[in-house]
Amino acid sequence: MNYKINEIENKIKESLNSLGFNEEVTINPSNRPELGDYQYNGIMPLAKKNKLNPVELANKLINLIKDFPEFKEVKVAGPGFINLKFSDEFLLDFMNKSHADLTINYKQDINKTIFLDYGGPNVAKVLHVGHLRSANIGEALKRLCQAVGCKTICDVHLGDWGRPMGMVILEIKTRFPDLAYFKEDYHGEEVDFNLTNEDLLELYPIATSKAKEDEKIMTEARNINYELQNKHPGYYALWQKIVQVSVDEVKRLYHDLNVSFDLWEGESDNFYYIPEMLDYLYGKNMILESDNAKIIPVKEETDNKEMPPLILIKSNGAVSYEATDLAAIWERVHKYKFDEIWYLTDKRQELHFTQVFRAAKKSGIANDKLKLIFNGFGTMNGPDGKPFKTRDGGVMPLAELLDNVTTECEKRLMPSITEKREEIARTIAVGAIKYADLLPFRTTDYNFDIEKFTDLNGKTGTYLLYSTIRMKSLLNKAEDNCDQMTTISTDIERNIIITMLDLKRIIKRSYENYSLNEICEYLYKITNLYNNFYSENKVLSEENSLKRTSWLTLTKIIYENNLYLLNILGINIPEKM
Ligand code: ARG
Repeated sequence: MNYKINEIENKIKESLNSLGFNEEVTINPSNRPELGDYQYNGIMPLAKKNKLNPVELANKLINLIKDFPEFKEVKVAGPGFINLKFSDEFLLDFMNKSHADLTINYKQDINKTIFLDYGGPNVAKVLHVGHLRSANIGEALKRLCQAVGCKTICDVHLGDWGRPMGMVILEIKTRFPDLAYFKEDYHGEEVDFNLTNEDLLELYPIATSKAKEDEKIMTEARNINYELQNKHPGYYALWQKIVQVSVDEVKRLYHDLNVSFDLWEGESDNFYYIPEMLDYLYGKNMILESDNAKIIPVKEETDNKEMPPLILIKSNGAVSYEATDLAAIWERVHKYKFDEIWYLTDKRQELHFTQVFRAAKKSGIANDKLKLIFNGFGTMNGPDGKPFKTRDGGVMPLAELLDNVTTECEKRLMPSITEKREEIARTIAVGAIKYADLLPFRTTDYNFDIEKFTDLNGKTGTYLLYSTIRMKSLLNKAEDNCDQMTTISTDIERNIIITMLDLKRIIKRSYENYSLNEICEYLYKITNLYNNFYSENKVLSEENSLKRTSWLTLTKIIYENNLYLLNILGINIPEKM
């Protein structure tokens, strides 16, 4: 499908050209649908610039464009707005061409490779709702990038390094001092030690609070961490085991959430690039010493907020989170080819990334062309607007949230569904969670309300899934092979088609804003319009065969579009519900 709205804009542009103006033309969906489908508002500024009467100029243009086959009616309104009403032939042609491959329909001329850094789970720690947002938004942005024609490289960027690792190993050592990992003569042989993710979740908080409360324990954990970083055979093997157990659990949850990655790298991988990066930075005279720490000043003249220097190596010799992220850029630019890196984390990490980006640019680790983009997101709070907690007051683990929502969705399933109830409920739950999470603009905080988000009648994932399944069952019942719309018989059909005309731009804007909210809103709007159409018209029993075929074609196009968009959001559709 060549993009119809662009074609019209180009034709209007040519007409303006023939009147002696060289102007870019944009037309937009009308704010007042009773006056027109789309509107062109460019006449007033153009007339002003050329000291002309806008209404006269508008009328001159209208004379040139009113007979275009695309239009049924073109009229000037008020001080020079031009209202455009599309002809049925144009709308039908657009719909019939929409049958072509959707993946081609929505491609744009963007041929970049985007490196996405999202997920960011921490080893040995519970995956909580903040990680959910990073995974959901990152996955959907990846799919959106691919939809517009970009290539993507995705890295989960595990938090698998640093002092907490020393603390966890120390806690294991205290409980099981006889394990082979802790023997002098250990050299990497297999150890019969059964460690589960539940064990890790139990260990981690105990290990970290013990270390915080007792300076001796802290020192010991620090020493273990130091030896781990120098590949002490036993600590290293145990650490690998801890990472494996955590990653297996994370992969299981991500699988349920339709989230996947090309790379399972982590801070530990970046760590080994730090020495060569430091050499480079020293060579460029970038590093200063301050109170025994190694720092890179990143303040710029135009800053009106405080901008502390980036601390690479802390005064106690420990490598900072900033250093691992700088080393991650170092590693990535040496290993892969890409145009941009997009980071998806809580917006509260903005300062961290500002410092890292500035240091990367200033030092040349990232060249001028490489775009480093921080896509911070807002917080998901509980229904009371406070940080999401479990009943007993802890942070809400992702697995628990998924289970709770699945239970709620199961209650809403038809009793007649007896097979695979749990599996279907889980698919719906994932859809409900993802839709709720992607609906607000990326940076907006929102409150998670299980009842509201699983409601079959609201702006929810469950409503969209239910409606889309109903479209499919209508098509199955009809059994006709329908791929032609020949007539538009109701206003609501017109409205649906006009809404569809805008989709390609919505996809582009979503890509430009790094946010899925407009696609979510669009899905709701089109589905709602279709449902109104469906309740007002008896599609299956319609006797006029042209009408019936047109309606079924309309249904098919909307059904396929919904599937396509839900897939961008990372939402799967159950067979029935
Ligand atoms: N593990 C980090 C956290 O839980 C998120 C990692 C984000 N990515 C990055 N390159 N720093 O906060």
